Amino acid sequence: MSVQKIQIFDTTLRDGEQVPGCKLNMDEKLIIANQLELLGVDVIEAGFPVSSPGDFEAVRAIARQTKTATVCGLTRAVENDIRVAADALKGAVRPRIHTGIGTSELHVKYKLRTSQENVIERALAAVKLAKSFVEDVEFYAEDAGRTDNEFLARVCEEVIKAGATVLNIPDTTGYCLPEEYGAKIKYLVENVKGIDRVTLSTHCHNDLGLATANSIAGVINGARQIECTINGVGERAGNTALEEVVMILRQHPYLNLDTNINTKLLTLTSAMVSDMMRMPVQANKAIVGANAFSHSSGIHQDGVIKHRETYEIIDPKEVGVSDSSIVLTARSGRAALAYRLQKLGYTFDKNTLDKAYASFLQLADQKKEVVDTDLHEIVEQENLVA
Ligand code: KIV
Ligand code: ZN
Repeated sequence: MSVQKIQIFDTTLRDGEQVPGCKLNMDEKLIIANQLELLGVDVIEAGFPVSSPGDFEAVRAIARQTKTATVCGLTRAVENDIRVAADALKGAVRPRIHTGIGTSELHVKYKLRTSQENVIERALAAVKLAKSFVEDVEFYAEDAGRTDNEFLARVCEEVIKAGATVLNIPDTTGYCLPEEYGAKIKYLVENVKGIDRVTLSTHCHNDLGLATANSIAGVINGARQIECTINGVGERAGNTALEEVVMILRQHPYLNLDTNINTKLLTLTSAMVSDMMRMPVQANKAIVGANAFSHSSGIHQDGVIKHRETYEIIDPKEVGVSDSSIVLTARSGRAALAYRLQKLGYTFDKNTLDKAYASFLQLADQKKEVVDTDLHEIVEQENLVA
């Protein structure tokens, strides 16, 4: 079976930038957009043009700068939003308008205070208007995660007829379980007429820590685009983390699903976004956290030194990290100490290593981590000879 391409739609500059404190200036947005293009994302959601003059200008500048990726602007199903987005996207080589409306009972009844029929009318008008400006129109059914599948299928069928090219099925509130979200995508694949003419897209939030799992369930069941952000930044608990879904697909080739991402740029891109958004990445974050390739317990260190794959499922070089690290703590064993001493140029016989290890443990019990300068000091103080 041939490998199917999963499009990566990055929304760091739109859903990600909505986070309080993460606001970026124009130069930062252009630098990040350029980095996303180098990384190989297929779509850059550059912003929500009608939301402010600054966002309009940013979308316009990113549209002009971007050479290969599609540049997308978000709108509500509102005429002025769509006209403004079309204007901002004028300079793009591949412009896309991303328009939509809430479809769950909660959104229809309490947010929009209208009927399901009116939601369909507004969705159709929005897609048709967007289509008069650009060929590529993505429709989002906001809160699709909690929308009744039959109604969702009806909305999807109608917007396809109106010309939508991509259907986004957001789990806006991060509510779904992977089985449930996967089944929703499968239901749409099996029940919506014309679905084979469009790309189905996942857009998952992380309120229950399931955004990545839900996105993967989505593509296993037929979605062909994943919406995500670098480091998983986004509203509340965030969006699906780009680096996670990309590496899951890369590490499981039997799924026959892969992306165009140059994974060797993941760590650098993560650091850039973290610095510019002033949003630290937690140390134990999958793929890009400081501890993602660092081993601190004696049992694991011994294994990794003998054969990296005993405790590592990803070669760190694949994501742009030069090497795994062996962190020396009071939980480290002789193998780890010998390994680190060897890297510093000391190769000891068993008795000398035992002596070094005794001094090391004394120090390690008083410190969080024993570093190279500590090791040099131990060698000097104990007069250890290689
Ligand atoms: O989470 C969501 O539903 C969204 C839409 C606006 C696409 O971000
Ligand atoms: Zn979202």
